[in-house]
Amino acid sequence: MTRFPDSFLWGGAIAANQSEGAFDQDGKGLSIQDFLSKGVTKPLDPTIIPQNLKLEGIDFYHRYAEDIKLFAEMGFKVLRFSIAWSRIFPNGNEEQPNEAGLNFYDKVIDCCLSYGIEPLITLSHYETPYFLTKVYDGWRSRSLITFFERYCRTVFTRYQGKVNYWLTFNEVNALWNFPLMGAGVMTNKEELTKQDLFQIAHHELVASALAVKIAHEIDPSIQVGNMVLGIYNYPMTSNPEDTLAVLEADKNLNYFMDVQTRGYYPNWIKKEWQKYGASIEIEEGDLDLLKHTVDFVSFSYYMSRCVSATPEKYQQGKGNMTNVLKNPFLEETEWGWEIDPAGLRILLNRFAHLYELPIFVVENGLGAIDELIEVNGEKTVLDSYRIDYLQTHLEAIGDAIDDGVEVLGYTMWGCIDLVSASTAEMKKRYGFIYVDRDDDGQGTLDRYRKQSFNWYKDVISTNGANL
Ligand code: BG6
Repeated sequence: MTRFPDSFLWGGAIAANQSEGAFDQDGKGLSIQDFLSKGVTKPLDPTIIPQNLKLEGIDFYHRYAEDIKLFAEMGFKVLRFSIAWSRIFPNGNEEQPNEAGLNFYDKVIDCCLSYGIEPLITLSHYETPYFLTKVYDGWRSRSLITFFERYCRTVFTRYQGKVNYWLTFNEVNALWNFPLMGAGVMTNKEELTKQDLFQIAHHELVASALAVKIAHEIDPSIQVGNMVLGIYNYPMTSNPEDTLAVLEADKNLNYFMDVQTRGYYPNWIKKEWQKYGASIEIEEGDLDLLKHTVDFVSFSYYMSRCVSATPEKYQQGKGNMTNVLKNPFLEETEWGWEIDPAGLRILLNRFAHLYELPIFVVENGLGAIDELIEVNGEKTVLDSYRIDYLQTHLEAIGDAIDDGVEVLGYTMWGCIDLVSASTAEMKKRYGFIYVDRDDDGQGTLDRYRKQSFNWYKDVISTNGANL
């Protein structure tokens, strides 16, 4: 017996900057990622392109057909990937798109469709064109709304009838902690005031709503979702002060979720502006644009975290782009991220209660060190730890479906090994498919099926009955 609906979209997710490579081919411009040699943890050095695993990625640019064939072999019904904005508009602000860049995505999309795989495309996955960062300070400038609008119109028109699902900004709430990755803002985070951050968020919110509006004008059947970094916040103790700290921490996510699903700034956000003495420049028409709300919500989920009013009293842990306090009830991954499938069920329920929209789990997975070995003459990885992680999280989604949550689908993050976003490592592997490349950039780039490959194939073919 399966708990997943027949229409459930099983699949995987990747992003352009972490997989494609070919960073300067066929007219592509540079993106901020070409400079982030250490991932999100080190600031961008605007003067050099450092040695950087992302420049070559896993060469998806040339091997997409082979990779999509492997995804099809697992039975994928959906593939989430991103379009690198700088392939289409190399500097971001041109009037006309780069045809060679579009040609590449024509081929990727057609290849997916030839296997019956739905493309789910992220418009901006941490890859603002570098020129826009250097000259405009990224989304600090309102001009980016116009450039983004042009980019959206171009790809929505080009892929009308082929691409039904789009996401606007990957983990849009990463802005608060990582304005460079999240919003292409070159100015140091420490120099940005709350006013600046709220203004940047406003530009992104207007741009995101504009994307929804344009998509629906082009084809009302196109579904556009938002995407947030989803973390469930637990109070560290039953001390009410800790729950008040959760109330505060939840604002990180609610800020975007509330506006993108409801279509207006709720009172609590206006109070935030007042609290920080911020006056947001809202142009005529902006508030009308915000009314174009998303068709579904989506999020990444890797972990939960504990929050306290007195964090100094507790042991610090590690988190996906956030600070956490160690939860004594949870195990953690080799990178210190706490493993909590129940948090996924809780978060799904919370989003369903609050927003009453279909939900797509567009990232979830385990980053681990894998060992390539030979079994019966075939190279593989025996990754039962990854199967355990995925199995428990898929059970949690099944539980949420039983709770009454409408879940559209699940795209496992890094379905093929790729370069990590936070640390720019290859050795932090997520895939069902092993890619022969190491942290020094050495390797054949050959692909090998891991044990989890066959496991996921079985999960999909039984629509989640065999978990
Ligand atoms: C998400 C990002 O935050 O987490 C992905 O959207 C990223 O781009 C994923 O790869 C996993 O994080 P990491 O740092 O392990 O690659």
